Amino acid sequence: MDSFIIRGGSRIKGTVEISGSKNSSLPILAACLMADGKTILHRVPRLSDVNSMIDLITQLGCSVKRNDPKEKGGLQLNGSLEVEVVTEQQCWAPYEVVKTMRASICVLGPLLAKRGRARVSIPGGCAIGDRPIDLHLRGLQKLGAEFRTENGDIVGEVRGRLKGCRMYLGGAQGPTVLGTINVMCAAALAEGETVLVGAACEPEVTDCANFLNAMGAQIKGHGTPEMHIEGVDCLEACEHTVIPDRIEAGTFMIAAAITNGELELRNCELDHLVAVVDRLEEVGVHFEQQGKNTVYVTSSRRLNPVEMTTQPYPGFPTDVQAQLMALLCLADGNSVITERIFPDRFLHVGELNRMGARIRKEGATAIIQGVKDLQGARVMASDLRASAGLVLAGLVAKGVTQIDRIYHVDRGYEKLEAKLQAVGANIERVSQKAVA
Ligand code: EPZ
Repeated sequence: MDSFIIRGGSRIKGTVEISGSKNSSLPILAACLMADGKTILHRVPRLSDVNSMIDLITQLGCSVKRNDPKEKGGLQLNGSLEVEVVTEQQCWAPYEVVKTMRASICVLGPLLAKRGRARVSIPGGCAIGDRPIDLHLRGLQKLGAEFRTENGDIVGEVRGRLKGCRMYLGGAQGPTVLGTINVMCAAALAEGETVLVGAACEPEVTDCANFLNAMGAQIKGHGTPEMHIEGVDCLEACEHTVIPDRIEAGTFMIAAAITNGELELRNCELDHLVAVVDRLEEVGVHFEQQGKNTVYVTSSRRLNPVEMTTQPYPGFPTDVQAQLMALLCLADGNSVITERIFPDRFLHVGELNRMGARIRKEGATAIIQGVKDLQGARVMASDLRASAGLVLAGLVAKGVTQIDRIYHVDRGYEKLEAKLQAVGANIERVSQKAVA
């Protein structure tokens, strides 16, 4: 297993290219199962969750080809993907794949809509909490799918064709992103109209809806809590460019702020980050839009404490919570973070405290008492975004920070250490055996 070794103290300065969105790429790759012909996707990031999804749809009968990036040199990001369904025999998403990546569940809707049957290993919990799929199943059942559980798998069948209807899709913690996408995909090929009330509004839902519409689907209201989907008989393969990864962009904004640096972010869609910009401006971070999708980020030396509660989009995203917490460890006063989406998503607290932070958890709330400095330490990554928070803390900590199990980082960030090195961070990847 690899580790990061970070020597803190360098100011981040320069230009970073934001990759395509992981959380948009995964459901769009699953939706390719519904396409007749060859789909071409641009800006699909090279990271392990995307590789897992490519493996899964390959097992489900797709041929997938990754082309090299057109531009030579640089960090070799992007490069288009060609996806084509070759056979529809295999409809099983096995435990080996699903256990490493919960998002595998988003093949359920496309398989039921296109092939009328699906078998997906029930995703277990993960480091950030339980990951139920009751809302996915309830929505698909309302369209006519029938489910049973068998040896840890959910087995779904459709007698005839799915049938559209009006339904409420929300849950106790608000809307479900992948649940909305699963039901949206299924409804796209159902008979008649489906109205989804309580739909998730995340940009990744909108991007997937735009992808389906480019294939011939009739989806309206995407990006709002009420979506109208008129079912069609078939979907033709298309060419699509994935939206920028707003979570990676938020992570780099905080990298600039925590090191009191200055960063130009390219391929950054500020409209997808209004709540993040709002909180960071209150902390003392400055943003200057420089042309389409280019943003210049600097910060004051003194950081103000803030309150933040994670919310469904357009609220502050839970996926940037750990990164903001790392920044607030150095604010001049006490901050409060409340986690409304995944109340247990605080595994980074213990590790940050080992670096000298003063964070106290009270249920789904963390109180962060600002300190003058963080100290480098050996810490352990636990989940994707907690790991990103530890990297950010390491950039500013005094001395050396070693972060173990960074396979968590590789799931959701494309060439993170290369991008950070290119803007002055002293970070290197070492394999476990090389580290004492
Ligand atoms: C997506 O997960 C993202 N993953 C997550 O990002 C993100 O944290 C999450 O949305 C919330 O924004 C991908 O897009 C691949 P949800 P998803 O269904 O769709 C509850 C990352 O770091 N719920 O919107 O699985 C659930 O427990 C990952 O990139 C039910 O109760 O999340 C949670 O409290 C981590 N029943 C809330 O809803 C269900 O059937 C929101 O979950 C489904 C969800």
